[in-house]
Amino acid sequence: MTDLRIGIVGLGRMGEYHFNVWSRLDGARVIAIAEPDLERFQTVTGPAQREIDRHADWHDLIARGDIDAISIVAPSSLHGEIATAALAAGIHCLVEKPIATTVPDAVAMTAAAERAGKILTVGHVERFNPAARKLRQLLADGALGRVYRVHATRVGPLPTRIMDAGVALDLATHDLDLMEWLTGESITEITAASSQFAHSHHEDIVQGMIRFGDHGPHGLLDVNWLTPEKRRELVVIGEEGLLRASWVTQDLFLVRSGGIAVGWDQLAQLRGDAEGEMIRFAINKEEPLRAELAAFRDAIVEGGPAPVPALAGARALANALALRESAAQRRPMRPSLETPDPVPA
Ligand SMILES: NC(=O)c1ccc[n+]([C@@H]2O[C@H](COP(=O)([O-])OP(=O)(O)OC[C@H]3O[C@@H](n4cnc5c(N)ncnc54)[C@H](O)[C@@H]3O)[C@@H](O)[C@H]2O)c1
Repeated sequence: MTDLRIGIVGLGRMGEYHFNVWSRLDGARVIAIAEPDLERFQTVTGPAQREIDRHADWHDLIARGDIDAISIVAPSSLHGEIATAALAAGIHCLVEKPIATTVPDAVAMTAAAERAGKILTVGHVERFNPAARKLRQLLADGALGRVYRVHATRVGPLPTRIMDAGVALDLATHDLDLMEWLTGESITEITAASSQFAHSHHEDIVQGMIRFGDHGPHGLLDVNWLTPEKRRELVVIGEEGLLRASWVTQDLFLVRSGGIAVGWDQLAQLRGDAEGEMIRFAINKEEPLRAELAAFRDAIVEGGPAPVPALAGARALANALALRESAAQRRPMRPSLETPDPVPA
């Protein structure tokens, strides 16, 4: 079996990770990179640049005719145009999240993949976090019984680079995708508040209250670039207890409800009347981006479906736009793939 011939579009901070991971992955070889910044290309690729062609313009990379698949790691506003052209040229695409910056772009990309019969997958890398996979399996097996609430926290310091999007599109897309993927439920309504305290261009803090239908669980979203320590956590509470995951450490805990009564009154006042067992799962730690690119490679080779369907990426985008719009209009919004903008709930 010959190696897949891989191209990368955009060799910035995330593109460098893609380059490093592709370079270590069996069955694939990076042969071309589209990056307008020559110095950046030289710094990142080092001695490997002798075997890699650089294109200043991504159109030239796509027009070569010898590329099997690309990682699209250029600024998000370019994803739609690049992916649609690459798919039409018969190239499988992995596009970083967010899939695009507009719903019509995301829908057009999905249609282009279907027309071409090629894979279009989205870099929702958290789905490849082993703790997330275990958590999803536990929920599907009914470990918590009925799920009451999913609470995602994704906070950290302000990035030093100027970002072309605020926290709703840049960070919350991860959690909006996770919430739907983990619960198997669709988000129907979002109410949010956001502010721009320290970032020069965009909102840097957003809180969201999320509904999954009239009877589904609640979602709570806490996302910002204003916290001096980086935390990426998710807590699910349900009738049988809670599951708490850290995406950074890949740790997952289960705390069971009930259990035994706390017999000492003063302690019961502090800790609650009953306490259940707590389990820390042993999880085989794995680099999520490596697992993501390996899944993309395998899907191409085996003709399998996209590891993260383009439609899921489009939904995460529509949900992030509803989050942003709800904060702007100060009223609940419904995400929509049928209209360019979210609609008032
Ligand atoms: N999955 C994740 O956790 C994650 C994390 C960070 C970024 N991202 C995503 O990755 C993408 C890139 O983000 P980043 O942080 O690496 O940004 P970045 O600004 O560091 O890098 C973007 C790169 O694209 C290059 N570029 C600009 N215009 C181009 C063009 N027309 N053709 C080819 N290359 C072009 C720039 O020169 C730069 O090197 C964004 O979509 C972002 O949302 C995902």
